[in-house]
Amino acid sequence: MRAIDEHTITEAALDQMESTPNPRLKEIMAALTRHLHNFAREVDLTPEEWLDGIKFLTAVGQKCTAYRQEFILLSDTLGLSSLVNALHDRRATEAGTKSSLVGPFYRQDSPEMKLGDTIATKPTNGQEICIYGRVFDSAGRGVPNATVQIWQPDETGNYDLQKHDPSEMDLRGTFHTDAQGRFYLRTIAPLGYMIPMDGPVGDMIRAQKRHGYRPAHIHFIIGAPGFREVVTALYLQGDEHIDSDTVFGVTSSLVTQIRDNDPASPIPNLPSIVFDFQLPAARADGSGRVGADPSQIVSKVAS
Ligand SMILES: [Fe+2]
Repeated sequence: MRAIDEHTITEAALDQMESTPNPRLKEIMAALTRHLHNFAREVDLTPEEWLDGIKFLTAVGQKCTAYRQEFILLSDTLGLSSLVNALHDRRATEAGTKSSLVGPFYRQDSPEMKLGDTIATKPTNGQEICIYGRVFDSAGRGVPNATVQIWQPDETGNYDLQKHDPSEMDLRGTFHTDAQGRFYLRTIAPLGYMIPMDGPVGDMIRAQKRHGYRPAHIHFIIGAPGFREVVTALYLQGDEHIDSDTVFGVTSSLVTQIRDNDPASPIPNLPSIVFDFQLPAARADGSGRVGADPSQIVSKVAS
């Protein structure tokens, strides 16, 4: 019989998991177990600290609802979501616009809109702007009828999901590119925001003396048949937190700016952001989303 001690326990656990039929599940669980055990040995984890960790993860789960995803927020603030995005981008067979976080505020059923419509459907004091650009493929050709989903916070840094009635949508929409792959829409300039700090992730951020802010940004999911979906965000130059994003979403190629007097804009009387998105050809390995509509996760868990 095996003597279980602080070293042999790892082998004992891995031996028992050998029976896992799914090879990918077996690989992931074995690596997770090895790293988890090594982590406990490295920090010489005490029972009190282990229990604190259990309490923390329990609180993270209890904070999740159809409108709040504290586990995605935890993954984001630990840099795991950004790492998974970088690994995903590396697996593409063609160049494309870099991925950035989907975050906890995406909703998959945003209203269908026509080119030129505004996604700011509620009264607002925000600065009206135009966002326009092209969706193109690796040969530089425009991708017609590509789906452009957009969502963003308002001029105070809040998403609709954080408002009084989170079931009412605002500042989100789904557009389709024209025959040349072009899109344009109206919205308002977003403000950067502090991530939700009223849960266990906020407690963690405060304990680490981090500022908790994200720079101003606008989220996109761009897709078309035959192409790999691009999940990304555009970040506004000049934001004071552009170099210290709490969730590590900013990368230099996604930094953009609001310009006045752009004669090339389809709505030249408005300040505008112009950005062209490149779609890589599809691979058979999923959509590339790192995150999801919070209501979908909760309903999947419940079913
Ligand atoms: Fe966001």
